[in-house]
Amino acid sequence: MQEKFYIKDLKKFKNQQVVLCGWIYNLRSSGKIMFLQLRDGTGFCQCILNKKDVKYEKWNQAQKITIESSVKITGLVVEHPKNKNEFELQVKDFKIYQIAEEYPISKKEHGPEFLLDNRHLWLRSKKQWAIQQVRDEIISATYDFFHKENFIKIDSPILTPNACEGTTTLFGVEYFDLGKAYLSQSGQLYLEAAIMAHGRVFDFGPTFRAEKSKTRRHLTEFWMMDAEMAFCDHECNMKMQENLISYVVVQVVKNKKTELEILERDISKLEKIKVPFDRITHAQAVKKLQKLGSKITEKDDLGAEDETLLTKDSDIPMFVEKWPKEIKAFYMKCDKENSKLALCSDLIATEGHGEIIGGSQREDDYKVLQARIIKEKLPMKDFEWYLDLRKYGSVSHSGFGYGLERLTGWITGIHHIRETIPFPRMINRIRP
Ligand code: 4AD
Ligand code: MG
Repeated sequence: MQEKFYIKDLKKFKNQQVVLCGWIYNLRSSGKIMFLQLRDGTGFCQCILNKKDVKYEKWNQAQKITIESSVKITGLVVEHPKNKNEFELQVKDFKIYQIAEEYPISKKEHGPEFLLDNRHLWLRSKKQWAIQQVRDEIISATYDFFHKENFIKIDSPILTPNACEGTTTLFGVEYFDLGKAYLSQSGQLYLEAAIMAHGRVFDFGPTFRAEKSKTRRHLTEFWMMDAEMAFCDHECNMKMQENLISYVVVQVVKNKKTELEILERDISKLEKIKVPFDRITHAQAVKKLQKLGSKITEKDDLGAEDETLLTKDSDIPMFVEKWPKEIKAFYMKCDKENSKLALCSDLIATEGHGEIIGGSQREDDYKVLQARIIKEKLPMKDFEWYLDLRKYGSVSHSGFGYGLERLTGWITGIHHIRETIPFPRMINRIRP
């Protein structure tokens, strides 16, 4: 059977004949020569069709090729005369699969709404291609890191009977005779059960928040990676987070150079991401922000502007830890030294990209957790199984979750996270 060839491997086939299948993303002609820019999903390459190299009918056929037409091209791999390590194809033959109709996305500037309406086509653009390639690298680096650290992947359910992260952002669905079910906001609670079987686990899947916010950092459907560890306290939790993030950044810089170049990402900024990350308490952060002119008070969450202000001089991400308990989730363990504080942290990225991780040590005492559930008026019957975990071999444990789109947005330097997910879901967008 014929071997399949890909653009990313062309350098291995210098001066040899290959066959490539893909789409024409741009073309120009100078009378006797056609320059066809081909993309095949693995990369981009220029294919040069010389009138004298093909039959008269073939040349005429080639004149019909339009942008986004699908083709198979046979040709000789040659090194670019000026740019070493760049390879082109001298076309010997080609087959047209389909001549594309006039393509709606052109080189001219389009507004974001138009591009989002055409997301099914926009995905093909060079920059959008590069973003998804980096996203994929982040996913595989994450799996890689966790497997090396003795975690296994556990799949948590999407349909759940209760809230994990507060009841104000729940999406409800009718669930047969059992009443209302909710789309998962985070798999965390289920991972807490799984660590008692496996020690260290992570999940990776879609999560849902009926966020009313229309900011550049909020989606209603996004991908979260939750990690959970038995026998691990708040300190150990932060160490795992910084090791994971720095590992992921190193892998992207190493393996996705072309993509980062297409995105015009300043790689020197990514190369500075080294452990340990900065640590600051919520109280210290509030003081610092007030000095910088923010209106934030001791009992407030950090707004997007606060996060940007706080890290404006940072080269590395910053943990904001030990938040007032009452503004954080019910499951967080409180600080022995100050019972008003939760043993938690938000990890704030550099360059104004804001919170990328939320994590905490979990309450492992049955009575304390039960009292918390009652105080927050959560439906006890839905949390009985969760309380059970504190009855049978309870241990100190911690975990965290990153938002894949936030992380991808930061690493690629993309302003609005809607570009980091193939098909964004936002408060005002469900199509395509
Ligand atoms: O900080 P959050 O709400 O934490 C949790 O859900 C924990 N249960 C995770 C855990 O401990 N296992 O969300 C985690 C991360 C945030 O830091 C952010 O990166 C992302 O998920 N995130 C969103 N991303 C896009 N759109 C939204 N609406 C998001 N809400 C949270
Ligand atoms: Mg958070």
